[in-house]
Amino acid sequence: MTTATLDHSAATADSAPAYLSIRDLHAYYGESYIVQGVSFDVREGEIVALLGRNGAGKTSTLRAIARLSSPEAKQGEIWMNGQPLHTMASHQASQLGMALVPEDRRIIAGLTVEENLKLAQIAPPIGWPLSRLYELFPRLGERKAQEGITLSGGEQQMLAIARALARDVKVLLLDEPYEGLAPVIVDEIEKTLALIKEQGITTILVEQNAVRALKLADRAVILDTGGIVFDGTAAEVLNNAALRAEYLAI
Ligand SMILES: Nc1ncnc2c1ncn2[C@@H]1O[C@H](COP(=O)(O)OP(=O)(O)OP(=O)(O)O)[C@@H](O)[C@H]1O
Ligand SMILES: [Mg+2]
Repeated sequence: MTTATLDHSAATADSAPAYLSIRDLHAYYGESYIVQGVSFDVREGEIVALLGRNGAGKTSTLRAIARLSSPEAKQGEIWMNGQPLHTMASHQASQLGMALVPEDRRIIAGLTVEENLKLAQIAPPIGWPLSRLYELFPRLGERKAQEGITLSGGEQQMLAIARALARDVKVLLLDEPYEGLAPVIVDEIEKTLALIKEQGITTILVEQNAVRALKLADRAVILDTGGIVFDGTAAEVLNNAALRAEYLAI
């Protein structure tokens, strides 16, 4: 990838500098060109909803930001708090505080809830202590001796988020955290995400449940066929029926 310095300190709408800046990101699965020049900024402590139809490229964009090898990012820059993530491997990005919670949650079989969390803390940078994680997710505290994969879907999502916070996370990338969950559980996770935001953690929230995501998010970025078609406030999307119909089918 290019390491040429672009203006990664570009100020965003309300003039605060970006904490995370994605600049002209292009990524491929083999020959398939999927992420086609994505640029957007996220300010510190902000929740940005990354939305778009099925196949728009949301998961691929998150994976490219987390520096996973597939899709392969071939062009563009990713700056986090002034650090050039585009020059780094995924484990280095993770060390600096980039955490991806994938759609399938990846709870480790054969380990209890507590063992899943302790495994995340096996090496620095260590984040929240277990006591604080159980305070944030009381259900996990009640079930800490239960095998992780026997938790309900909502509890597994909580464990996946808690495991990210068990490391010293600065930017949380969440891929469809509400998928398959009852509205009452979505309420619970939504409250937790608001508390995480209060701690100054920056979040990109990918969701099919766009209305729920927009209610929580400060801003929204909409993707369509691997490119950005909207970047603005969440309120603008909620108030723009034509935009919602065209790109979000809501
Ligand atoms: N491993 C892969 N190899 C080849 N093509 C892929 C791969 N993963 C995804 N794609 C393609 O990339 C495009 C974007 O997929 P992606 O999963 O990023 O979309 P998405 O916006 O997350 O969709 P959804 O809402 O269904 O999760 C799709 O056309 C998809 O078929
Ligand atoms: Mg996806």
